[in-house]
Amino acid sequence: MSLIEIDNLSVTFRAKGREVRAVEAVSLTVAARESYGLVGESGSGKSTILRAICGLAPISGGSIRIGGVPVATPRGRAFAARVQMVFQDPYASLHPRHTIDRTLSEPLAIHGLSGSDARVVKALEDVGLPAAFRFRFPHQLSGGQRQRVAIARALMLEPEILLLDEPTSALDASVQAEVLNLLDRLRDERGLTFLMVSHDLAVIDHMTDRVLVMQNGRAVEELTRAALAGARMTTDYARSLFDASADRMLDPAKEAP
Ligand SMILES: Nc1ncnc2c1ncn2[C@@H]1O[C@H](COP(=O)(O)OP(=O)(O)OP(=O)(O)O)[C@@H](O)[C@H]1O
Ligand SMILES: [Mg+2]
Repeated sequence: MSLIEIDNLSVTFRAKGREVRAVEAVSLTVAARESYGLVGESGSGKSTILRAICGLAPISGGSIRIGGVPVATPRGRAFAARVQMVFQDPYASLHPRHTIDRTLSEPLAIHGLSGSDARVVKALEDVGLPAAFRFRFPHQLSGGQRQRVAIARALMLEPEILLLDEPTSALDASVQAEVLNLLDRLRDERGLTFLMVSHDLAVIDHMTDRVLVMQNGRAVEELTRAALAGARMTTDYARSLFDASADRMLDPAKEAP
């Protein structure tokens, strides 16, 4: 059994009498400890899949199971303890008038967990930030530091699954690599399962075991990392995405001397 099972998921938004079919009959499974990527052009439905898992977008058809159990509506505390999301823009996702301490201790308070002080300090340490950052506000941090805080917050309840929506695309290239390495290390240390959105195949190639290529709300092609690295895609669309990112991806021919 896979940890995440998405079967024939459809999400249709109705806005001003118009229907937007954001996701159409998409199926995918993610094994425990796997890192799975979603890639595709803007508007292809990547974020909507993550949002549907979290209950932030309506499930119009199909099903989502976590650990074999269909997600409950509303998602509730048990869900929050297992599944957490990290958004693209760390500035928008952190409360501007709450200290980092308050941001990190809030999930603990909601779940009635004790030892908040020590847990907050440890959480900062785990994402490579000094303990004194507790007393800062988001505007007193750099973009990369803010995203580290957002990751720390997502990990406060020790979830099994992180849903990552372009977690580094708002950051400079060098900071992006640091945050991706942090995520990689945390996944390894904690046995986390990732479902990660990126429009950048180079990031996907670095971070994920398998990737689903999406276009216009539909699944176009699923590729393993090996197939991606070997450029063994079967659709023209996946090929065009690959060609656009190829210069920033590792050349497999150069890897094996
Ligand atoms: N709340 C909403 N109401 C109406 N339409 C929506 C809503 N959220 C998303 N959409 C539409 O659904 C489609 C898929 O959007 P989504 O945000 O999932 O794309 P995406 O692949 O994440 O794109 P990007 O790479 O730009 O983030 C788009 O056409 C978008 O306009
Ligand atoms: Mg998106």
